[in-house]
Formats: sequence, structure tokens, C-alpha cells
Amino acid sequence: MKILRTVKEIQAYAKAMKAAGKTIGLVPTMGALHEGHLTLMRAAREKCDIVIASVFVNPTQFGPNEDYAAYPRRFEADCEKLATVPVDAVFHPEPAEMYPDGYCTYVNVEGDITKKLCGAQRPGHFRGVATVVTKLMNLSRADEAFFGQKDAQQVVVIRRFVEDLNLNVHINMVPIVREENGLARSSRNQYLSAAEKEAATVLSRSLRRAAATYARGEHDVEKLKLIVTDTLETEPLASIDYVDLFSFPDLQPLQRVEQQSLLAIAVRIGETRLIDNVILGGEAM
Ligand code: PAF
Repeated sequence: MKILRTVKEIQAYAKAMKAAGKTIGLVPTMGALHEGHLTLMRAAREKCDIVIASVFVNPTQFGPNEDYAAYPRRFEADCEKLATVPVDAVFHPEPAEMYPDGYCTYVNVEGDITKKLCGAQRPGHFRGVATVVTKLMNLSRADEAFFGQKDAQQVVVIRRFVEDLNLNVHINMVPIVREENGLARSSRNQYLSAAEKEAATVLSRSLRRAAATYARGEHDVEKLKLIVTDTLETEPLASIDYVDLFSFPDLQPLQRVEQQSLLAIAVRIGETRLIDNVILGGEAM
């Protein structure tokens, strides 16, 4: 597995792979890799000749009071996991390589898809994500890029700018990977104490209850949201950031679920903010 640390190195690698006629799959990550990331890597491995993973904790997508400094950084352990897939190359730049002095260009997805759900709570977050993902796609010359459904709004935003900017990359959304107790895999789960980890299972439980009620024929949005809220409120360590339900993938408000929809939640367990979701009304692609 090649380790690429500079813009020049990844550009040269991608150029050589393209010249050899290879298709390139990109899996952008911020490291602290878990089974969810490895599932993305395996999806890329199946579809593409060459798999490039990026491990970069992107400063521009964190707000001033968020966990940029504390975000787990475990590059050696990450490399060991990536080698098991196996991945062909990992891009691991320093922040100054991606954002050198004088850097002043950003990709800003306007419109309401970046203003709701996590966008309402984390101003500037999707601008940072769109900027770094555009740079990573450009550097890696990716034909395919892979993202997890846990960040479903992120996928919606990425698909939007890929279409708007006519980028020639296909965006793959891979289903959520969960622990046995239902907790969605996340690098931030590492912040949780044992008691908090147990408490955090309330997120997936609340979504499962709503999904089961929907499957039994309840399509009223407010009633489905109430099932989630009521379940979350049974957990003393949980405090709700949002419980919302929108059409998917256009994220428009609904009164009834008569089409594919995203039921999404953000919940603080102690100090740790976790997100989870379920897609109602058919398989998402
Ligand atoms: O989902 C993430 O881990 C990040 O938002 C991403 C896509 C790697 C961009 O920094």
C-alpha cells in the first residue's frame, strides 16, 4: 500500500493509474477507521481497479467550538486496517498541504439542503465538506467515490455539487454498519464511556420503533417523529438536537410519508453528538 502525503505525490500516482487505463475509487475519511469505513473500502475494491483512501481530519468542516483538536488521530492503526482490505494507496496530507498560506477558495452549496438537519446546527460544516471532497476527487481523479448512509445529508450535498459542477464522478452511498446492539458505527463512539455506549443504543431503538410503525401503515410524519422523540426521552443521558423527517433525496418537508424519505436524528449522549437515520419507503441507492 502506497502512502501519499503531498499533492504532487497523489497527482503523479493518479496520473500513472489513469495512463494504465485503471478505474479509480476514492474513499474519503477522517481516519479512526472502523468497520463502517472498511465496508466502504470493500465496496470500492469490488467496483474499481484501484482504491485510494484518504485519511485527513479536515479543519474547514469543524466549527470553532467543535472537536477538531480532540478528533482521534490513529494513522498507523488505520494503515493496518486499510492493508487488510487491501487498499492500493492512502492519501494522508498535513493541513498546510491542503490549505497552504493564501488559500481562499471554497465550494459552497447554497439552497436549503445545507440549511436543515446538521446544516442548521453546524454552520459552515457542509462548505468545508464540499471543499475538501472536491479537492480530493480532483487530486485522485476518481471515477467512483464512496460515502456512508450514516451521513445521508452529506451524500445529498455531495451529489448536488457533483451535478452542479459537472464533475465526472459517480457517488455511491453504502448502508449503515451497526454494532450488534444496533449502535451505528462512528469514530465518535470512541468518546463514549461504557454507560454512555449503552445509553446510545436508544438512537437506533427509536428509529427501529418508528420504522416498524411505518411498516404497519402509519404514514403521518408528526406521529412517526413523536415515536422517535418519546423513545429518546426515556434515556436520561440523551438530549435531542433534532428529530426530522424529509423526502429523500431532495430533503423537502412532508406531512405524510408517501415516497422515499429520510428519518434522521442527532442526539447528544453526555458531551458526544451522535447522528443516525433510517430511510423509509424503499431502498436508497
Ligand atoms: O464523512 C467524513 O468523514 C468527512 O465528512 C469526509 C467526507 C471525509 C470529508 O472530510
